Amino acid sequence: MRKELDKTLEIARKEILEVETLHDLMQLKSRFVGKKSVLNNFMKKIGSLPKEGRPAFGQIVNQAKNQLAEIISNREIEIKERDYKKNLQANALDITMPGRHREQGSLHPITKVWREIEDTFISMGFEVAEGFDIEDEFHNFDALNTPQDHPARDLSDTFYIENDVLLRTQTSTVQIRTMENHKPPIKIIAPGRCYRNDNDASHSPAFHQMEALVIDEDVSFADLKDILNIFVKKMFGSEIESRIRPHFFPFTEPSAEIDIVCVNCGGKGCNVCKNQGWLEMGGAGMVDPNVLETLGIDSEKYSGYAFGLGIDRVAMLKYKIPDMRLLFENDLRFLKQFSK
Ligand code: DAH
Repeated sequence: MRKELDKTLEIARKEILEVETLHDLMQLKSRFVGKKSVLNNFMKKIGSLPKEGRPAFGQIVNQAKNQLAEIISNREIEIKERDYKKNLQANALDITMPGRHREQGSLHPITKVWREIEDTFISMGFEVAEGFDIEDEFHNFDALNTPQDHPARDLSDTFYIENDVLLRTQTSTVQIRTMENHKPPIKIIAPGRCYRNDNDASHSPAFHQMEALVIDEDVSFADLKDILNIFVKKMFGSEIESRIRPHFFPFTEPSAEIDIVCVNCGGKGCNVCKNQGWLEMGGAGMVDPNVLETLGIDSEKYSGYAFGLGIDRVAMLKYKIPDMRLLFENDLRFLKQFSK
């Protein structure tokens, strides 16, 4: 029986050391040391031994059981550690790997310039007013003193939606809407979209303007020149030269256009300024008394100035963009240059 026991132990040790999974190990455990195990069978057979030999053999079987139990528990620890390491390796985090890159968007150059212009005037006490993109002839033309036969009303310039309903061609409409609802003193700016049937390197069918209107007692042309001067220097630097040049607009008298020295050639003349040395940025003037009277404002008591700047123009001048269409194509190669 002793030999048989030794043989069993040898087999058990070998199998336990070779087993690879916890599941198989547990099966070996019940086979060798559990209640119905081989070793328990040896205990049962003890009765068939001579009396004197029984205690010693019982002890040997018990020792063998303890030994096997220990080998099994050591093997269990080994297998668990091995599995743990394997798992760690499989899910390892390589902190030297480069991170995933996320594309970052940035403000459109028009938005940047729009905000910069707006901030400049807000800092000088202007309030921001809003109008509508879809307008009627009264606000876009009539109240702005524009005669019935003025070429700007023509279908080829203005997008009419139906009779008397159109897409505003200028933010000057907001002058009228403001005067309808507010009494002087008035000091507003109105940035927004405008629409005209025009499309070339310096015109887009949808474009952006910023209107300004100041009405109070004793407002003069000198005030207008002053504010434009401050604005131009703030936007383009204190060295920049600007000028105003006589012009005609139906709703201002006198009227002027605002130019700045060509940012490309510094005034020498180049293809950007069409050899003029100057670039046009918008229109301005003293509000025509007819406009004030149409809106019930006493033109003897009050006077005012107004101007309209092309926001896209200012962006082109500021960033030296040669073609307005670039601003509306949303080509990322172009837009990325303004991400700083
Ligand atoms: N609305 C004019 C245009 O679109 C620009 C303009 C000129 C606005 C003179 C004004 C102004 O307020 O006084 O061409």
